[in-house]
Amino acid sequence: MNLAEKIVKLKKEKNAIILAHNYQRPEIQDIADYVGDSIELSRKAMEEEKAEIIVFAAVDFMAESAVILNPDKKVLLPSLGARCPMAQMLTVDEIKRCKALYPNLPLVLYVNTLAAAKAYCDICCTSANAVEVIESINAETVLFGPDHNLAEYVQEKTGKTIIPIPERGFCPTHLLFQPEEVHVLRMQYPDAVVMVHPECTAEMRNVADFVGSTSQMCRFAKESNAKTFIVATEEGLLHRLRKENPQKRFVLAYEGAVCPNMKLNTLERLYMALKEEKHVVTVPEPIASKARRALERMFELK
Ligand code: 13P
Ligand code: SF4
Repeated sequence: MNLAEKIVKLKKEKNAIILAHNYQRPEIQDIADYVGDSIELSRKAMEEEKAEIIVFAAVDFMAESAVILNPDKKVLLPSLGARCPMAQMLTVDEIKRCKALYPNLPLVLYVNTLAAAKAYCDICCTSANAVEVIESINAETVLFGPDHNLAEYVQEKTGKTIIPIPERGFCPTHLLFQPEEVHVLRMQYPDAVVMVHPECTAEMRNVADFVGSTSQMCRFAKESNAKTFIVATEEGLLHRLRKENPQKRFVLAYEGAVCPNMKLNTLERLYMALKEEKHVVTVPEPIASKARRALERMFELK
């Protein structure tokens, strides 16, 4: 029996499910019960009733959201080191400083934040619904963190004034994409459609035909008549795109676009995590209740 087969067997014995983000290694995506973007995975975790264990193949803040939304389940993160550096960029001290500076402004936080930060916000959003969340708020100026590229994108789309906190939070992986490389690829594939994640820079959004979350890209690629797609997001998504659209071509807009944090989860670590029921993710009270309110407000919108 190979490792993947052992995991599937163990998963059944322990009444566990595996939720995997679109950036996970292909071999993890292939054995997962569900593969999705951050909002889809949170929703799955929230609605899961039967399983006793959720193995969350992703990074820290996503697993924390699962615990917050479904506190009765044991949530395991295969690698303890799988932490999102963007989430670490927004500290509670920075939030307190900004709230003191702008006491009357609502605070919207991207789900790519730690639970301790979420506890201070009015509502959360993901890259799939950030525009709708900001539109739903009864204010023309909003504090938003931690991704300043997403903040800028939302400002463009809604016409509201978005104050980014911290001033320049970013995703190191999405910052790697450059429009010059897209121009070169467009010469090679003149009919290609360019899909860009909103964590990329404004220069990248300017060369995009479509801007959206990872799962929105999957839907767009499936419905589009185009045959070739240039993709500006973490390379893991290309596995899913190719699997779902075998007749279409997907080209990564920058070969080195890898999130090392997401890739810390391996089949070996996943197997050990399930076998030894580690690393159990916990979120203490009252942080969990406060963060839950912010996440639930986001789900109530749709
Ligand atoms: P998605 O919600 O689009 O999956 O994005 C999550 C993320 O971490 C992007 O870097
Ligand atoms: Fe965080 Fe960027 Fe990795 Fe997404 S791709 S988990 S935002 S570091």
